[in-house]
Amino acid sequence: LNLSVASSGGNTSSPILYGTFYEDIYHSGDGGLYGELIRNRAFQGSGSNGVASTVRNTNYWHPVGGVTLSIDVSSPALSPSLPYQMRMDIPAGTTGPVGFYNDGFWGFHVDSAKRYVASVYMRGDYSGSIDCYFQNYISGANLSTAVMSVSQTAAEGWKKSSTPVFTPSDSASDGNNTFYYMFDGEHLAGKSVYFNLFSVFKQTYKNRGNGLREDLATSLNNMNGKYLRIGGNELEGNGPPYEWKWNLTLGDLKDRPGRPGTWGDVTTDGLGLLEMMQWAADMGQEVLMSVFAGLYLNTTVISEAALPPYVDSAMNQLEFLLGTSNTTYGAKRAALGYPDPFVINYVEIGNEDNINGGPPSYYAYRFDAFYNAIHAKYPSLQLISTVNPSPSTTAGSAVDIHPYKNEATFVSMFNAYDQASRQYPVWIAEYAAIRPGTTTSGQVGAQTLGMACAEAIFLLGCERNSDIVVGTSYGALIKHYDEEPGTVAVIKHTSNEILLTMSYYVQKLFADYKGTDTVPVTATGGGFGPIYWSATKSSTSTFLKMVNYNGSATTVSVTIQGSMKNTATLITLTAPNSTSVNNLPSHGGEASKVTTSTITGSNGVFQVPFTSGYEVSILAV
Ligand code: AHR
Repeated sequence: LNLSVASSGGNTSSPILYGTFYEDIYHSGDGGLYGELIRNRAFQGSGSNGVASTVRNTNYWHPVGGVTLSIDVSSPALSPSLPYQMRMDIPAGTTGPVGFYNDGFWGFHVDSAKRYVASVYMRGDYSGSIDCYFQNYISGANLSTAVMSVSQTAAEGWKKSSTPVFTPSDSASDGNNTFYYMFDGEHLAGKSVYFNLFSVFKQTYKNRGNGLREDLATSLNNMNGKYLRIGGNELEGNGPPYEWKWNLTLGDLKDRPGRPGTWGDVTTDGLGLLEMMQWAADMGQEVLMSVFAGLYLNTTVISEAALPPYVDSAMNQLEFLLGTSNTTYGAKRAALGYPDPFVINYVEIGNEDNINGGPPSYYAYRFDAFYNAIHAKYPSLQLISTVNPSPSTTAGSAVDIHPYKNEATFVSMFNAYDQASRQYPVWIAEYAAIRPGTTTSGQVGAQTLGMACAEAIFLLGCERNSDIVVGTSYGALIKHYDEEPGTVAVIKHTSNEILLTMSYYVQKLFADYKGTDTVPVTATGGGFGPIYWSATKSSTSTFLKMVNYNGSATTVSVTIQGSMKNTATLITLTAPNSTSVNNLPSHGGEASKVTTSTITGSNGVFQVPFTSGYEVSILAV
């Protein structure tokens, strides 16, 4: 195969073609990217058998020293948003330490090189210390020491106590650790005391307060996604009234009630709207913001007559983000520490209104109601429909398409947009190669090299058409390994480990090596398949991306027209075979290998070797 890459003649390529999509799915937020380490910190609900509910319990908390723990609703509550608290009853005659420990989200990562801080709200009579420490669940060894000094009476109501910032004395080799809050039993004998909004944070990404888990956020930043889409099924909620309510995810954590989430557990909303905006700013990402458009996952649709308050809420959400501090909602944002309006260019109206009974009402009134209101106030925003064709394609809206298909279909979608209408922009704001099967998420397959190469071929097709394809992002971004080991996600995590999938590396490499314009490639000696390609160029470099799928080791001769260069950088991604998968470091680690080498050519002509039949290869000249 000979490929000749032109020096001009293509189109402008979307600068945000490779992005990210976030929703809290299987503890990607709580217990994942959100830095809070305590599970069930404010008794906001529970998850059981994959269903999130409003039932409150003391799950993940365990009594120590003969005390009893229970859910309590006595007054005063910590806040109207957090009306449930944990009560500790201490038997009369108690001596010695009493208290409780928390399991964390499948344990805690204890690292003596990192800073931690713990806090809690307490109501009741107590003068003494609260000893806070990590303990290894297996050995019983304490791994840290930090003390809160408390002096309060029941009449004083709720008081917050915090430890000083501490570093553990020892690191734990795995996540089998718990976190203790221990009291002087003699001072509490015969009493009841109340607790709410517990917290343990490890130092966060860029040291943000209430911020992101540092190692996960660093992996995400390294992926180099150019936008953050906020939306998905979490936006929709399982049914009324559990859609994502942006305004209840703001401000003091005491004022965030949380809600039963879509993916089997309660969401605390600690990782709220402003935390997500801060995340995007910290990673230099554009934001694709979604607004709830009246369709719930359980197929409930808001009627036309009942829709206006939902349109108002979306408009308030946008004013909160985009309005100056002189506007009603812009002022609320400013009061929360963000005086300047955010820059947002893309707003999606709903999520997957093409399914779950959404189309009739979306076409009849829902899309237009949101589109007309938003477009009238923010005419420069690109508004995105979630059904194709959009109800308003002629008015300039974009469409968002979500292919979750098998590997072969992804390969066949290489040319999906070659003949697409140039009249309206396309987003692939969710996609993934999956395997047929049944899980709660329906996204089976823990990405193999074959699946990642198939996704890469689809992305080549998107890049070739990136005059109309604005962005692509994988679904899901992050999942907890212990909860969903067999399903697809770009990144999986435990409390102390991170798994970067082969799809992660495809997306990272594709984003790392991309120009500003597409350029035509002429092939001789073969056509598309088993090798597929796409080329882009910037003012200084040309990038030829190639993917070998179900092929064999071979060499491709590449000519970069107009180049006099004699060396080029070759970046490859491959693994032992098409079914290889990456795993956690403790489960065998990564099967895939990324290599970067310099190859020598002559006046822009290079021989690019493929070492295997499944391989991603990028030539940067
Ligand atoms: O990525 C998981 C889910 O898949 C998204 O929430 C939803 O939009 C899609 O169906």
